[in-house]
Amino acid sequence: MTTTKSTNTVWHHATITRADREKLHQHKSVIIWFTGLSGSGKSTLAHAVEDYLHKMGISTFVLDGDNVRHGLCSDLTFSDDDRVENIRRIGEVAKLIIESGVITLTAFISPFKSDRNAARSLVPHGDFIEIYCQCPIETCEKRDVKGLYKKARAGEIPFFTGIDSPYEAPEKPELAVNTHDQSLAESVRCVINLLIDRGIIK
Ligand code: PPS
Repeated sequence: MTTTKSTNTVWHHATITRADREKLHQHKSVIIWFTGLSGSGKSTLAHAVEDYLHKMGISTFVLDGDNVRHGLCSDLTFSDDDRVENIRRIGEVAKLIIESGVITLTAFISPFKSDRNAARSLVPHGDFIEIYCQCPIETCEKRDVKGLYKKARAGEIPFFTGIDSPYEAPEKPELAVNTHDQSLAESVRCVINLLIDRGIIK
């Protein structure tokens, strides 16, 4: 059987628009893209921000690296090419979710600048908020919540980010949170303040 890319497809314009859905939700929808090393606190912060927003009555959804790799991206490894494909899929899924009027928080290492920029370019200007969870690798390794750094150092996990696979830090993220010496509550506050400053939430 030969496989071909989708051709002869025609875009179907929805009757109900993203703006209609945002009106129903009573807030704008954006992608809040957390990036950083393993153990830098991306998932913890994304879920804490979601918790905060949810309590404000805001519709949210978190896409989390570990979870997505159990399903949608379970066919992908941690090679450079597969990470590119992982982030491409997440960008597309996040784009779909914001079309539904829901604020989407993503927590992926997303180590390559070009992939993060590609995800950014999928949505209108201002709808992609990149948040860099800044934490020295020494601290991530000391935390080693999942014991992965230990395994990677022992050569049991190839291509581990920061050890034998690169991480390209964002140069101009919308926000950098220092998860090394800032409390979780402080980091959440920084993200919420940014959303307020940008008129995304009130
Ligand atoms: S990526 O680079 O964006 O495609 O990675 P992501 O989908 O976010 O998956 C990161 C989580 O996978 C676990 N894990 C690894 N991380 C980095 N390198 C290697 N080789 C690796 N193998 C498994 C790890 O639990 C990551 O979760 P976090 O939350 O980042 O610690």
